[in-house]
Amino acid sequence: MKRLVVTALFLLAGLAPAWAVEQAGLLDEGRRIARETCSQCHLVEGDEKRVSAGPGMQGPAFAAVAAMPSTTSVAIKVFLKTPHANMPDIILSEAEIDALAIYILSLRNR
Ligand code: HEC
Repeated sequence: MKRLVVTALFLLAGLAPAWAVEQAGLLDEGRRIARETCSQCHLVEGDEKRVSAGPGMQGPAFAAVAAMPSTTSVAIKVFLKTPHANMPDIILSEAEIDALAIYILSLRNR
């Protein structure tokens, strides 16, 4: 039993860095997509404190989206997969949506 636990811990220790690297990769990817595709209407960097952007930018700042208690990874993904009255339907792949969800949530508590 003890050996099993030790083996499991070794396995986890081996997996953790790979997982962290993958998450970091998705985070960068999400930031890149946000800058390229969403920044026309949203403030996409976390350090912008204003809730809404300048003229012509109609969407809420991503930091403000992240700060809402209702914003979860699932909520962002569902939002990006369903049609909206005020936001154009941007066609994103599953991987891009995952990356954007991770990126937007990373702006929470900054
Ligand atoms: C042409 C302008 C435009 C672009 C481009 C755009 N958005 Fe939006 N977005 C809006 C508007 C307007 C709203 C507010 C929609 C509403 O409340 O019905 C919104 C709302 C949102 C919300 C929901 C906030 C909430 O209240 O829950 C999310 C999340 C979001 N956008 C993500 C994105 C992402 C990610 C991208 C880039 C892939 C993007 N948007 C690109 C205009 C845009």
